[in-house]
This record gives sequence, C-alpha cells and structure tokens, in this order.
Amino acid sequence: MEHKQAEIRIAELRKTISEHSRRYYEENAPVISDYEFDMLMKELESLEREYPDLVTPDSPTQKVGSDIRKEFEQYPHKYPMLSLGNTYDISEVEAFAERASKGLGGKPFTYSCELKFDGTAICLTYREGKLFRALTRGDGTVGDDVTANVRHISNIPQTLKGSGWPGEFEIRGEIYMPYEAFDRLNAERLRDEDPPFANPRNAASGSLKLINPSEVGHRGLECTLYHILGENLPFSTHSEALDAAASWGLPVSDKRRTCKSTEEIEEYINYWDTERKTLPFATDGAVIKINELNFQKELGYTAKFPRWAVAYKFKAEHALTKLLSIDYQVGRTGAITPVANLEPVLLSGTVVKRASLHNAEQMDLLDIRIGDYVYVEKGGEIIPKITGVELDRRTSDTEKPVFPDRCPDCGTLLVKDEGEAKSFCPNTTGCPTQIKGKLVHFLCRKAMNVIAGDATIEQLFSLGLVRRPSDFYALVKSDLLRLEGWKDRSAERFLDSLEESKKVPFGRVLFALGIRYVGETTAKSLAAHFGNIDNLMAADRESLLEAADIGEVIADSILRYFSSDSSKEEIERLKKAGLQFSMDAKETQMSDALSGMTIVISGNFSVSRDEIKHLIQLNGGKNSSSVSSRTTFLLAGSKPGPEKIKKAESLGVEIISEERFRSIIASGLEHPDGTGQELPESTETQERIHKDLTLF
Ligand code: IVH
Repeated sequence: MEHKQAEIRIAELRKTISEHSRRYYEENAPVISDYEFDMLMKELESLEREYPDLVTPDSPTQKVGSDIRKEFEQYPHKYPMLSLGNTYDISEVEAFAERASKGLGGKPFTYSCELKFDGTAICLTYREGKLFRALTRGDGTVGDDVTANVRHISNIPQTLKGSGWPGEFEIRGEIYMPYEAFDRLNAERLRDEDPPFANPRNAASGSLKLINPSEVGHRGLECTLYHILGENLPFSTHSEALDAAASWGLPVSDKRRTCKSTEEIEEYINYWDTERKTLPFATDGAVIKINELNFQKELGYTAKFPRWAVAYKFKAEHALTKLLSIDYQVGRTGAITPVANLEPVLLSGTVVKRASLHNAEQMDLLDIRIGDYVYVEKGGEIIPKITGVELDRRTSDTEKPVFPDRCPDCGTLLVKDEGEAKSFCPNTTGCPTQIKGKLVHFLCRKAMNVIAGDATIEQLFSLGLVRRPSDFYALVKSDLLRLEGWKDRSAERFLDSLEESKKVPFGRVLFALGIRYVGETTAKSLAAHFGNIDNLMAADRESLLEAADIGEVIADSILRYFSSDSSKEEIERLKKAGLQFSMDAKETQMSDALSGMTIVISGNFSVSRDEIKHLIQLNGGKNSSSVSSRTTFLLAGSKPGPEKIKKAESLGVEIISEERFRSIIASGLEHPDGTGQELPESTETQERIHKDLTLF
C-alpha cells in the first residue's frame, strides 16, 4: 500500500475503532463481535508497523479504551492497569514463548495458564486485611471508585481470613456475570422493554456501574482474581501468590495449571476450548503468564501490555444460515423490534430459528438483505443475535428490508424520538398488542402478582371484558365463567388472587402501571421519594430529577404519562378498586433522626451523592441544593464547594462530616431506652436498613 493510501486507511480505521470502543466501553452495547473488533485493531497495528511515521500517541493501538463515568469519583492507579496482547493463532503463542525465552537469555522458566474470564476488570486494595478500595480499569491510569458497589458482590470478602497477608496490597481480577444471572436479568429487561444486554460481559460492566449500590447485590455478579501487586511481596511465583490469596478467602480460579512447555500450553488451550461450554460463566480464551515473578519483572511492559503474558482468544461460536424474513414485533410500550426468521441451524446445542435485529439502525449497520446468509451468535443470550452478513454469498435476488412506517398491528404511523434507536407506535390506548401487553405486565409476578396466562388475557380482551387494568377489578364470577374451560374453582381462584393484589405495596403498583422507562427499581425509588401517588403526580420536572436514579428521559416519560387524561382517570379507578397508592409509614422511613432538618450536601462521599440524598430522605430529612438561613447543616464530604462553605460560615450554619452524619443516623436507629437495640421494624424495613448500613 502506498504511503498516502495507508494514511487514509489508518484514519478510517482509527475512526471506526474509536466508535466501536465507545459502544463497547461506555455504552456496554457493542454492534460487532470481539473477533471483528480485534481484526480491525490488528489491521491498524500492522499498517502502523509498516509506516511508523504515521503512529500518533492518540492512536487506539497506543492506549487502553476508557470506561470512565462522571457519576463516580476517580482515583489514580498505583500501578498502571494495562491490557493483554491477544491472538487467535496458536503459532503466536509459540512466538510469545520464544520472545520471552530470548528476553530471559535462555534461563529456564515455567508458565501459569489460566482461563480468560469474560467480564470487566477490577482492582481491589486491601489494607490491614480489610477491603479498602475498588477501582475499575478506567483509562488505565485513573479508575472509577466503585467500592460501595463492590461491597455488594457476595464472593468478595470485606475482611481476609488466615494469616500472612501483606499490610497493603492490590489484587486485580474480573467481575463477571454467570449465565444464570445473565439470563434472569435479560428476561426481566425484555419484559420491561429495556434493551437486553448483548452478552454477560456487558451486563457485568453495566451492573458494576449502577448508581444504586444495593441494586448491584441483586444482579448476581461474581469476582475472580488473578494478579497480585504490592511492595516486597513474599512470593517467588505467580501461582504461589494466587494460592496464598485463595487461602485468605479471596476468590481465585481453580482452573489454573502450571505448564513447562508450549506443548502443555497447547493441551491446556485445546482442553478448555471444548470444556468451557460446560462452565456456568463465559470465558473468551486462555491467558498464558510467565510464572516466575523475578522474570516477569525482567521482561517488563510495553506502553499497553505486559511482555510476560499473552491472551489466546477462543473464537465465539457462530453459525451461518439464511435470513428468510423479518417480523416487526410490537411491545407493550409500543416499541417495535425487528426479529429475523432464519433457516433452522444448530448452534451450541440448540436449534436456532429466530434472532434479534434490535432496531433499524442495527439493520442499516449490518446492511442486511432478505435472502442473505447471516452469522448468528449466542454467547449466552436468550435470543441469539445476527452479528454479520456473508457478502460473498449474496445473490442478486436478495431484497433490502423496509422498516415499516406504520404499526404492524394497528396501522398507526410510527414515531421515533430524537436520540432513540427504536421506533414506537404512539397509539398507546388503542393498539391491541400494546393493550394486551400492558395487561400482561400489570398482572405479572413482580407487579400485581395475579396468576393469569397470556391466553386468559387474550380471551378477556377478545370478549371485551377487560380493556384497562381497572377492568380486572370489576370482573364478577359470571364474566369469568364465559372463558373457555373455566369452572367455578378457577374463577374463584382468579378473583381471590385479584383481591390479594390489593395489598401489593405502592412501589409495585407504580411498576404495574407500565410507565415507559419506569422499571421495578425506579418505581420503588419513586415510591420511597414521593410517598404517595398525589405527590408524584404533582411533581414537576425539577423535583422528579431530585429522586435517586431519575434522569431526564425517565422524568419526561413520567410527566408525559401523568399529563394524559386517560392515565389520570385510570388511576382514579384503581384507587377506587382499593389498590395501594401510598407508602406504608413503616416502609418509607428508616428512622426520624433527621426529621425537620434541611440538609445541603457538598463534596464527595464514601458512597454516591444520590445514596446520601436517599439516606437523608429515609431518615426523615429534606435535601436542599443551596445554603440559606433555613439550612440545618451543611454535610461536607471531601473537596466541598468553597462557595457553600463560605456561605454556611457567614450564616453560622453548622458544617458536619460524613462520619458525624452517620453517627446521627445510627443514633436514630437505636432503641429510645438507650439500650442500643434496634427499633422493631417491618422485615422489609429492617432488610433495607441492613443494606443501607452495609454501605458504610
Ligand atoms: S492478567 C497486566 N489474567 O482480559 C495485565 N487478565 O483482554 C494482567 N482477563 O486486561 C491481566 N482473565 O481484564 C489476566 N486470567 C486472567 C484474565 C485476564 C481475564 C482480562 C483482563 C485483561 C483482559 C485483556
């Protein structure tokens, strides 16, 4: 390639790679497979090798992709957090071994072979045997502080056991999501019409960065650790160091093997390339490390990788099959999802006939045609996805699909909001698929928990008995006996179940309403923040944004929902039916330690600012954004705003630390007789108190 051409291609590759890096690291929603990404990177590396004058420091070959998020505090890494050189070719593993041997002047050494866990990198610091801090990789130099979240990952010890651990050390590893937890999460997301995560790795990194730490605990994340760093560590080999870490209670994989030759490495790789399919979590390769720590030191690092380790990546399992047609499915919130019908093909043990195409943008990116041969990948997802098109097999009779401009069910013109990837049918109250979807959602287990299959709802709808959720509560036995196959017993059970649903707490009722973007957690958080439906309906955009985890998109969706007359009427009907539209006093409050207090917060805390605001509310206090004579105290974390401090001082407003704040809350949780016993609370409240306090 000529110099000029190389320059153009390099610029093109850098742009494409940056875009895919952003989707991968920041959005957790890649549109190409890892293999395709790695191939783009390799092409860029080889062009830069050929034309070294075209290498620039900001090239993606020279730096680690960044996943820094402004919602977290950042801390510098004590030792840079690098990535690994990777290959799909066994001969390159041999080349790595040869390079290492040459670098070590022919001295004998061994290898530690490990699985390459497919998750998101984490760096834990332990001080005096206690978990001190958890940082993400970030940009390799600075990472996001996710300590509060990591404390909710069950296999990460807060305190080490055994003996012999250094006073301070770092241990790095991977946070991953086992397939079972991933399937559960994606099933929930699909039901709530949240976009499903593309694979367990994206689900793990998205979950690790949740704003509400206690929510992280529900995601089923796990951790595996594979690299210890510190000053004067008392180990001579990497495997010895990891064995010691395991004896301190740290999660270290038992799938490691010490190898003496490249033949043994190959054996390890081939074994796990097959056996990985039986593991309950995703692995995307093997990592081969020089085992002796003094040799690791001798070989050192390049700007991006250690010279003492390499990753061999397994190829993702995929199948090639023909795209027969595309269905456009309407969800309960009106979102339209294109689903591909495929010529049946065997993939990782199951026959695949349908695959998701996500949205119109994804269809354009793939430039897909009906009749094309397409690559389908599973990688643990419930619905397989189409990752690419085999252009060499494209024939002239393939047809470019046309994304519909009208709802395939009710024919209404579709709309697409700015910045939205999905098209929507706006006929929320008249589109039969949406209506039935909303009814199914309303009754589902996590909402009103009324047992009814889709077929029952279909019948109730087609007989004209139920059009909106409140109609369920007007049903009488004779209505239900009109359903095919229904007898006295089934009708009574259904009516009992509806009666029981009137006890479902406000947060779940709010979730049952099916407001777009208001999932289970958001609904709970809104319920806790506003206390009852009237406060919520009266809230303006600004006060909605003050609630934990509510961003602009959710706030606008809530405002839109409550501005409609039919929503208001429906809530009145549901209120009359006897559903819970306010929080139980016991549920809303942890203590009244802050009752009557107006608190302003400033600076950074050991947990997120949203979490502090949430705690203020849970303990009866009120948040305010600016210091005034009405402020009870200014809660100052590290690096508080100088203006706020000045104002507080000039008005004589007390400034208190996070530690003092915690002790005020803790005193509110003590029994009034001073025995230090906790106040008797409902189980649910006690669970929340426990969760909230473990944050500190
Ligand atoms: S060792 C200096 N060992 O894969 C780098 N990394 O694609 C030390 N990974 O950055 C990393 N399993 O996040 C190492 N057994 C393992 C691993 C592993 C997964 C991740 C890690 C790394 C990335 C490179």
